[in-house]
Amino acid sequence: MAKKKLRVAFIGAGGIAGTHMREYSKMDDVEMVAMADISTAGMERLGDEYGIPDAFTDYKAMLRKIKPDAVSVCTPNGLHAETSIAALRAGADVLVEKPLAMSAREGQRMLDAAKKANQKLVIGFQQRFDPKAQFVKNAVDSGRMGKVLYGRVQALRRRGIPNWGVFGRKDLQGGGPLIDIGVHVLEVTHYVMGSPRPVAASGNVYTYLGNKKSNVACQWPNWDHKSYTVEDLAVGQIRFENGATIHIESSFAAHIAKNIWNFQLMGEKGGASWDPVQLYTDDNGYMINSEPGWLPRNKDFGSIFGLKMRNFVDHSLHGKPTMAPAEHGLMVQKMLDGIYESAERGKEVAIR
Ligand SMILES: NC(=O)c1ccc[n+]([C@@H]2O[C@H](COP(=O)([O-])OP(=O)(O)OC[C@H]3O[C@@H](n4cnc5c(N)ncnc54)[C@H](O)[C@@H]3O)[C@@H](O)[C@H]2O)c1
Repeated sequence: MAKKKLRVAFIGAGGIAGTHMREYSKMDDVEMVAMADISTAGMERLGDEYGIPDAFTDYKAMLRKIKPDAVSVCTPNGLHAETSIAALRAGADVLVEKPLAMSAREGQRMLDAAKKANQKLVIGFQQRFDPKAQFVKNAVDSGRMGKVLYGRVQALRRRGIPNWGVFGRKDLQGGGPLIDIGVHVLEVTHYVMGSPRPVAASGNVYTYLGNKKSNVACQWPNWDHKSYTVEDLAVGQIRFENGATIHIESSFAAHIAKNIWNFQLMGEKGGASWDPVQLYTDDNGYMINSEPGWLPRNKDFGSIFGLKMRNFVDHSLHGKPTMAPAEHGLMVQKMLDGIYESAERGKEVAIR
């Protein structure tokens, strides 16, 4: 008997959709059946590359006609809620790219829609699949650090304002580096800390480069400064119900020596760093820095992106647990909202 395949469709056929397709194309229990985008250029290229038979310029028409089992939502953030809800109502499970939405209010509507439709909704967080993150999580869960008090999150580019897509548009993205790249390191830090419930946030955001015509040296030149309405730098602090705190720094354009992509944990009995991955503990009267002798690398298992996609298919098709429930996406979204709201109001805000 032929093995059952998950019939997957795509809403949004830009950069990250191509990565989803690359990973699905390696799986013999997935059939890519259709894609929808308002622009046809990407669909023509990806359709040829991955042999996807149907392309639509209206995602609602695609959902009606194709009735996919699952949908990868790969649009700009501003469309995550609308498209995910439509796909869930059409009877599909949804893997929505990060961040969950533009706001927690939208995110809550997505979770409600999944529950009502009795479909699965997964947030596309991949950093938690990283073996280094799993190593730190294992150390936290086994009590080696005692109570984790503090997480320091850094997602800092020295000069990397995206010059494609709509990453500078607050109306379509909900924010800048905080919601776009800070979210990655924030989610993995929150996850290894055991996903505590956030209760308050404070923060500041600053715009000083992206909205100006400039010929500074940069990774991706000629970004659209005229439509740039997001921050260049965000800093913030989250307080959690269990008394722990996270501090976050995220930037597309930080005046620092080089890019930083890392978290550090500090606990009552020990600490950790993600990259390079190390634990800091006390043993037999010595301060010990320890690290795993070997961890699988991308070449051993493909990529953390591949692991996230495999976990989604296993969850949707085979009923295995998800490692990235939408509830985690919603908690992270509340933290992002809290930092932006605090920056606007100039004071700490409660997270409910
Ligand atoms: N997990 C990751 O590491 C990762 C990396 C990059 C991007 N992302 C996320 O993926 C999403 C898309 O980012 P991207 O880099 O692919 O952007 P992109 O601009 O390359 O692609 C977005 C696509 O959505 C299409 N689109 C816009 N409106 C649409 C509509 N109404 N219906 C259908 N399609 C529509 C655009 O035409 C475009 O092709 C964002 O939410 C981003 O945060 C995640």
